[in-house]
Amino acid sequence: MQLSFHYLWEDDLDTVSVEIATILQSTMESSPLRTLRYGAIPPDEFLSWLTKGVRADLEEQKKHPRIRWIDSKIGSPDVVRWEDIVIKDDDLASLVVANGPASKSNNSRIVAHAAFMYHPPEDDAASIEVGHHGTNEKPNPLPASGNRQLQEYFNAKVEKALKEEFAGMHCFEVRELNVLGPDYLRKGIASRLLDWIIPKADKKNIPIVLAATPHGYPLYLKHGFVEIEGENRIVECDMSEWGGTGIHRHVLMIRHPTPINMGGPEP
Ligand SMILES: CC(C)(COP(=O)(O)OP(=O)(O)OC[C@H]1O[C@@H](n2cnc3c(N)ncnc32)[C@H](O)[C@@H]1OP(=O)(O)O)[C@@H](O)C(=O)NCCC(=O)NCCS
Repeated sequence: MQLSFHYLWEDDLDTVSVEIATILQSTMESSPLRTLRYGAIPPDEFLSWLTKGVRADLEEQKKHPRIRWIDSKIGSPDVVRWEDIVIKDDDLASLVVANGPASKSNNSRIVAHAAFMYHPPEDDAASIEVGHHGTNEKPNPLPASGNRQLQEYFNAKVEKALKEEFAGMHCFEVRELNVLGPDYLRKGIASRLLDWIIPKADKKNIPIVLAATPHGYPLYLKHGFVEIEGENRIVECDMSEWGGTGIHRHVLMIRHPTPINMGGPEP
């Protein structure tokens, strides 16, 4: 296992999309809610649906300037920006799409992906959205064997909570953070991806916000995130109402910036 950090877009989008979709598919067992939503979908069909959604999201994100250019003179920093960063295993062969173009990506495979969004000051409510791979979008409806109603219900609930708490806030948002399970979990990979955005937030003196899944929650706690205090702190789904058992919870969290030591004299 030889891990390396990359920005997206250097490889062909077909390969990238299927590799990220495969990561998402591997996270299915991380939550009973995901199993309830997607468990009945045949694996091949599920993977194609995920791949189509990932591709649509990446195409959309690509239209925006990159977060890593935020302090450069290229354009204005006061616009919505995105960054997609990935960790690859250079010892793992790529999931090359059949008949796809040969590329340097053949020699390594994406094993983790993060998508971060920058919300400029005075952002409008419409730009905080929950973007789970086009799952609600008409052009890419969930296969009929999945639980479409649950999908729409819970995504809309999380989206509403995010909007009510964070719309208009000058901040970064973690939109996606997924690691290929089970072999790549608990190896510090997600931490490495978060460690990319955290210093940028500190430098700009702005918070980072997100809706944490049950697996994400302890990770974010470790990285200085705290639960918000607003009434949307916890977004719940009573799975017994959807043929499952138990309560699923997403927790809205925020990491306040840590003042950067400017190298001045100690007090
Ligand atoms: C959540 C997720 C991204 C964590 O990725 P990861 O690479 O395994 O996380 P790291 O190895 O960087 O974890 C760092 C620390 O976070 C905590 N942590 C991470 N995952 C945890 C888990 N499942 N249970 C308890 N603590 C966990 C631990 O303190 C861990 O340190 P340790 O391993 O030394 O104890 C990964 O489990 C995943 O992709 N889950 C499914 C998708 C998901 O829920 N994503 C989060 C979206 S908000």
